[in-house]
Amino acid sequence: MKCFAGWILLAIFAVHFFIMKLSEEIQRRRTFAIVSHPDAGKTTLTEKFLLFGGAINVAGAVKSNKIRKTATSDFMEIEKQRGISVATSVMGFEYGEKKINILDTPGHQDFAEDTFRTLTAADSVIIVIDAAKGVEAQTRKLMNVCRMRKTPVMVFVNKMDRPALDPFELLDEIEQELEIHVHPLSWPVGMGSDFRGVYNRYDRTFRSFSGINKQIIGELVEYRDLTDEQFQKHIGPHAERLQEDLELIDGVYPGFVQKEYLEGDTAPLFFGSALNNFGVRDILDCFIQVAPSPGPVQTEDRLIDPLENKFSGFVFKIHANMDPNHRDRIAFIKIVSGKFERNKGYIHVRTGRQMKFSSPTSFMAEKKSIISEAYPGDIVGVHDTGNFKIGDAVTEGEKIQFNGIPSFSPELFRYVENADPMKFKQLARGLDQLMDEGVAQLFVSAANGRKIIGTVGALQFDVIQYRLQHEYGARCRYEQLPMHKACWIETGDTVKLKDFRLRKYQQLATDKEGREVYMAESPYALQMAQEKFPEITFHFNSEF
Ligand code: G4P
Repeated sequence: MKCFAGWILLAIFAVHFFIMKLSEEIQRRRTFAIVSHPDAGKTTLTEKFLLFGGAINVAGAVKSNKIRKTATSDFMEIEKQRGISVATSVMGFEYGEKKINILDTPGHQDFAEDTFRTLTAADSVIIVIDAAKGVEAQTRKLMNVCRMRKTPVMVFVNKMDRPALDPFELLDEIEQELEIHVHPLSWPVGMGSDFRGVYNRYDRTFRSFSGINKQIIGELVEYRDLTDEQFQKHIGPHAERLQEDLELIDGVYPGFVQKEYLEGDTAPLFFGSALNNFGVRDILDCFIQVAPSPGPVQTEDRLIDPLENKFSGFVFKIHANMDPNHRDRIAFIKIVSGKFERNKGYIHVRTGRQMKFSSPTSFMAEKKSIISEAYPGDIVGVHDTGNFKIGDAVTEGEKIQFNGIPSFSPELFRYVENADPMKFKQLARGLDQLMDEGVAQLFVSAANGRKIIGTVGALQFDVIQYRLQHEYGARCRYEQLPMHKACWIETGDTVKLKDFRLRKYQQLATDKEGREVYMAESPYALQMAQEKFPEITFHFNSEF
């Protein structure tokens, strides 16, 4: 009897210990994405975070995954660069007590869909804005996705060492264009060649800018007392303006409320120059204090808490192997709950298949290594022979379907045709797998049954053609389809739906899941359809 009680006590102790450890690991994780319009400085800031985190020693060590402005015909270059992005898909490092996971996103606009999907795995986001250019097109689109998901956002206004817009104007522009309140936690003094540094409103310290250390972290001269003689000398004619500015922003932006940030209503904002390692520590230090650790995730049936003892995770990205002789891929799984263990039996929910991962990889800075365990917030890369699709759930047995891995309305469309009658099967299989990977979206026209590929960037059409040929031995041909947008339609009014179908028959299609999609020829046609059929909702992403 005594022995039995002893076993029970031991079991309770073990469960308690497991939960304590799990909670500790979750609390210390920060999984986020850095995003920007191309050239605003996302890659530079990412690299500087790694530098400050001690994950690399010298700036320039991590290669950008950005697909540079190559000629679109230079496929090998695209492929080479895509190859680089496998290694830099996730960059983990330890900073203080925290485990940081930066999710990398492609810099090229044509791969925006990839970025949107990566955001579904990020617990928060840092948006980089070029101080001279302000809010740019891509930033707006990315913010729309963050707003839709209520993702907490921080803003880094970069390149203050260059002539920049007036900081107050910038704040107004960001608030209006990104439709979010901002809260400046640092304030710049001067700009361009006259840039003197930033006042950190979070810890009430001024850090002066010297602009000499680009490669390594130099010593910073800091002033806590703004009446200090040395400080006054350093900022010279800016002293009065700083005082006035600070009074004004203290009035307009009183205290920083973390809850507003966590709910996605207010974005803390920092000024700096990533290239000069300036302002980087300010945002990083604040980030690790206020940014969220992995939280609960909604599935179709219930909310999953990261503290649940059973493992669950979802695939948010699939990356094809660059070697044409091996058609295997890497699937990236974001861990949502419990502890992930190497070689443990898990279920791939969509197919019901048992799976064991013998060599799951984690990514620390630019190094890949096999791990034996991982926790919520972590990303593990697993070897995939073509089983996974974006959005797939992996669990210990529970049949769950995670919400919120949307497909976004494509903007470019082409009919796709088989160009080699002997390779029909290869083409179908290739297209299928590339769509599972999320390279583009496939629709079937209701009017003529032809297959349509929809993308957000022209480059994808070239990538698809190239990959079909090199990985699947299939050849395809495209035919232009001048459409403006595809939207998923929804209504409870069957009579109106019937009427809509009759009138818009030529523009209807189904997506890969068989859902009905309306392809508008122009913004005007879309507007007319919305006005004529108010009973129908036109969705611009598949997750509604
Ligand atoms: P991205 O990933 O957002 O596309 O931008 P990336 O970091 O590659 O930066 C784009 C360009 O802006 C780079 O110059 C980079 O050096 C520069 N840059 C980044 N941060 C700052 C900054 O704080 N101040 C200044 N003055 N420049 C900055 P490039 O000439 O295009 O590339 P590279 O040859 O320097 O790599």
